Amino acid sequence: MNLVTWAYPTRILFGEGAIQRIGLEAHQLGGSRALVIADANVVATRLIDPVIAALEEAGVVTSLFTEVRENPTEQNIQAGVASLRAKHADLVVGVGGGSVLDAAKLIRMRALPDVHDRPLLDYDEATGGERYISPRMPAMIAIPTTAGTGSEVGRSAVVTLDANQRKTVIFSPHLQPSVAILDPRMTATLPPRLTATTGFDALSHCVEAYLALGDHPLCDAIALGGVRLIGAHLRRAFQTPDDLGARGAMQKAAMMGAVAFQKGLGAGQALAHPLANDRGLQQGLAKALCLPAVVEFNSTVSQERILHLAEAFGVEPSVAAFVDGLKQLRADLGLPGGLREVGVTEHTLDALATKAAEDASVRTNPRPCGHDELLGMYRASL
Ligand SMILES: NC(=O)c1ccc[n+]([C@@H]2O[C@H](COP(=O)([O-])OP(=O)(O)OC[C@H]3O[C@@H](n4cnc5c(N)ncnc54)[C@H](O)[C@@H]3O)[C@@H](O)[C@H]2O)c1
Repeated sequence: MNLVTWAYPTRILFGEGAIQRIGLEAHQLGGSRALVIADANVVATRLIDPVIAALEEAGVVTSLFTEVRENPTEQNIQAGVASLRAKHADLVVGVGGGSVLDAAKLIRMRALPDVHDRPLLDYDEATGGERYISPRMPAMIAIPTTAGTGSEVGRSAVVTLDANQRKTVIFSPHLQPSVAILDPRMTATLPPRLTATTGFDALSHCVEAYLALGDHPLCDAIALGGVRLIGAHLRRAFQTPDDLGARGAMQKAAMMGAVAFQKGLGAGQALAHPLANDRGLQQGLAKALCLPAVVEFNSTVSQERILHLAEAFGVEPSVAAFVDGLKQLRADLGLPGGLREVGVTEHTLDALATKAAEDASVRTNPRPCGHDELLGMYRASL
């Protein structure tokens, strides 16, 4: 018999005004000097102001680090570590989307002198870097301001390394934030386009986790629950940005997607990575463009599960209705209808498929796929 491990360790606070509790959480984690990490847009929206105010009110000394770009780089991590040490911070608070939260996880990992001080490339998940990561790092509070990646409960951080100029996944259960605070107000400023693309990121996580190979009834139930929330609320969050009910539902769904994808992902993730890396597409958009073809491809082996997904999504339980429903949602959110519309041409697909085939996510796709099958899915997504 195969032994499996099921674990859900993150403490999550959810609700309007939840960030007011951050001071208490900081104290419980033993933090007295916090480095608040954000990026320029998050600072411009003033989302960090109530976070800093609540920390200071609780007597936590705060300083701010904002040199994080979208799709963070190794330099962002180095600068953040220097800032953390200069301020003698003992707590990391990430306030932002996946880019900021991932950067915060890695700044935290490298916080202590002489701990995790190998070249970042050594920690690459693809080469077994997890074995070098210990729990010796300060506590971290994650406050997501997008509803997509679920990085606030995830065990991975994605960074572009100097050595290979590629997005590299660094993975360890020790990277999981100590506490995640989900306050729907923190996503109300998200522009419609980002609401749409990050929402598709979450949807794709839930769909692919539900279809992924593996025996994980908890992840399956959570993934279906996430699809249900997205089917009912993503359009509303897009159309009415300050509808905090819809925003909160999307935050829950994004978090659930990341909890569920510990089971694994699939071809959609593999197809999206080279589109994001090489073509600069927002990852959620890349997934929105490829997900219908992935579902169709998998339907020969996963028909029953796709019917469950269709039902949860709120359409008739059939493969065709689910695929059409995904395309309709894409259109309703004002997203392009295919890869051609974002400038991807037929003659680039072969090279993209070669890279997609190297992605670890294909291993858990329910229907085996290599270069040729992935190329077929890219073609079907044109
Ligand atoms: N760790 C994981 O498990 C995981 C999973 C998927 C993706 N990722 C990574 O996450 C990153 C993408 O994260 P993302 O999609 O959340 O986007 P992002 O963090 O890159 O943010 C996109 C833009 O939105 C802005 N923004 C964020 N919140 C806002 C708000 N409330 N109001 C206005 N503007 C706001 C940001 O400042 C930024 O300019 C990528 O680097 C990707 O590789 C990580």
